[in-house]
Amino acid sequence: TPQASGPDVRVERDGGIAIVTIDRPAALNALSPDVLRALHAAFESLAADGSAVRGVLLTGAGGRAFVAGADIRAMADLTPEQGEESARLGHRVAGAIEGLAAPVIACVDGFALGGGLELALACDFIYATDASTFGQPEVRLGLTPGFGGTVRLPRAVGLARAKELIYTARRIDAAEAAAMGLVSRTFADRDALFEGARATLAEIEANAAPAVGIAKRVLVAAAGRRTDRAAEIEIAGFGDAFRTEDMREGVAAFIEKREPGFTGA
Ligand code: HXC
Repeated sequence: TPQASGPDVRVERDGGIAIVTIDRPAALNALSPDVLRALHAAFESLAADGSAVRGVLLTGAGGRAFVAGADIRAMADLTPEQGEESARLGHRVAGAIEGLAAPVIACVDGFALGGGLELALACDFIYATDASTFGQPEVRLGLTPGFGGTVRLPRAVGLARAKELIYTARRIDAAEAAAMGLVSRTFADRDALFEGARATLAEIEANAAPAVGIAKRVLVAAAGRRTDRAAEIEIAGFGDAFRTEDMREGVAAFIEKREPGFTGA
């Protein structure tokens, strides 16, 4: 069932799963300010649906690209201040994805470049078809990554590999991206990609939703923090799990040697 969304971003719901599609194929789904605002609105509306949303697949339409980057035409005449503002808008979208309790899988089929790769990196993990291509080509345009590439790419692949990708603007294929841990799994084609992503969401859905949400919140909040601060965030999250009925149920089910009946509470 389609939901309210902008012209360039579609949101469909299938039970507990939401599929968010960036649908601007004539520009290889480039992230114009309108697309970014529509994406932000889409994730805010999914957040407003609360526990009804158990997982999200984020993808691009048209069969050639996930997202080929920020919209280069829209950036040509920006002042430095406007450039900062456009980067801030991208970061707000990333924040909305990371702020959603449900896991978000980036389903990449084609180009994931610049802001497109950065958008994928804001998701919980990346699945891709073999035909996909990744890169941070900003410096070839005289730009630098602005939607989180300098923040999340080093966390995903390590600082040295991130520097190499960003300084060279080199494009890598899905196999190389998977080898460096940027992509979690690769698939022969788009159908297999979605089948695999849905299967993973089904695996997650079998677990305690509050625990998955707390784990995501802790992982996002602790990323990049000093060890002692990260440990405090984890400790508080661990305590929060004890506030949930599903934790009592999960532990009781183990002790009673039966399957848990989670309610999401
Ligand atoms: C605007 C774009 C675009 C982009 C592609 N298009 N990428 N428009 N912004 N990022 C448009 C093209 O202009 C073209 O429009 C149409 O999409 C098809 O693209 P082609 O170039 O004709 O396709 P192809 O020859 O197959 O090459 C595909 C490609 C190339 C290799 C992906 O399009 C490309 O290099 N795109 C730019 C990739 C990039 O540099 N991304 C980083 C952007 S900077 P017409 O009208 O001619 O048909 C960035 C910064 C993030 O992301 C942080 C900002 C704050």
